[in-house]
Amino acid sequence: MNPLHVTNTAKAVLVAVFVSGCALSSAVAQVISMETIYQKTCAHCHGQKGEGVAEKKAPPLNTMRLNELSFELFNLTATTQSSGSDHEIMEHNQRRIEEKGLRYHPDDMARYIYTTFNPAGMLEARGFRAYSTEEIYADMCAKCHGDRAQGNLDKKGPPLNTYALHELEMELLSLREGFQSSGGHHEVMADTLKRIENRGMAYHPKDMATYIYFHFNAKATR
Ligand code: HEC
Ligand code: HEC
Repeated sequence: MNPLHVTNTAKAVLVAVFVSGCALSSAVAQVISMETIYQKTCAHCHGQKGEGVAEKKAPPLNTMRLNELSFELFNLTATTQSSGSDHEIMEHNQRRIEEKGLRYHPDDMARYIYTTFNPAGMLEARGFRAYSTEEIYADMCAKCHGDRAQGNLDKKGPPLNTYALHELEMELLSLREGFQSSGGHHEVMADTLKRIENRGMAYHPKDMATYIYFHFNAKATR
């Protein structure tokens, strides 16, 4: 046998090993984003925006809190024993995902779903959290309208605790809609509303009216 030939064969083997080694290591090292995994393997059942798909019996995920998602996904990725319920669908699915090499950490998937699809999570991802109407009133309204909505003369904030519920609703709706200034004090409120929204403290006028009315109006609380 020609020594050159042997060398060439050895080279070919080496190259083959090298190439397959690369293929293997690139498969192992490949990092797939949560977005890709979600869209490829979850969206057809849970919806492109996590809204759920009734035909697939897949519940919405866009209303779940971050810790619920982490908990459920941790269970799904950790357990393989079937409970004989609908969970079989997810567990079966989970095994197929892992076979395809699309493994993910439950916390990463939970965070992806929460911050991409859940409105509260979307705000949090921008550095905001969800505030209750009560917190918003205390933080953003009380200093001008009083902690019991009794008004504050120094700030020219009128009392809000004398309005009927529907009047409050109307006032708050028109404040929101009529951002255009009337040249008067309304400018104060228009500015305030803009600052409130910039801080992620947007509220629905009806919620705020209900809160103010039932907490501060003597006619309603008595
Ligand atoms: C074949 C359809 C199908 C696919 C694909 C699928 N799911 Fe599900 N999923 C379901 C069904 C049905 C349920 C409800 C019953 C259950 O828990 O198994 C569910 C439940 C869940 C729950 C628990 C929800 C709750 O309310 O407790 C989470 C979280 C979840 N899926 C996330 C995912 C993620 C993330 C993926 C992709 C990696 C995915 N699912 C892919 C069908 C699917
Ligand atoms: C910087 C002071 C200031 C802050 C903060 C403020 N307001 Fe006002 N608000 C005013 C002034 C002044 C008026 C009266 C003139 C006007 O309508 O702009 C007013 C008017 C109103 C009115 C209409 C009532 C009327 O008699 O005209 C409502 C309702 C109201 N504010 C609700 C709120 C709510 C809810 C918040 C918090 C989200 C808030 N305001 C925050 C100063 C303030």
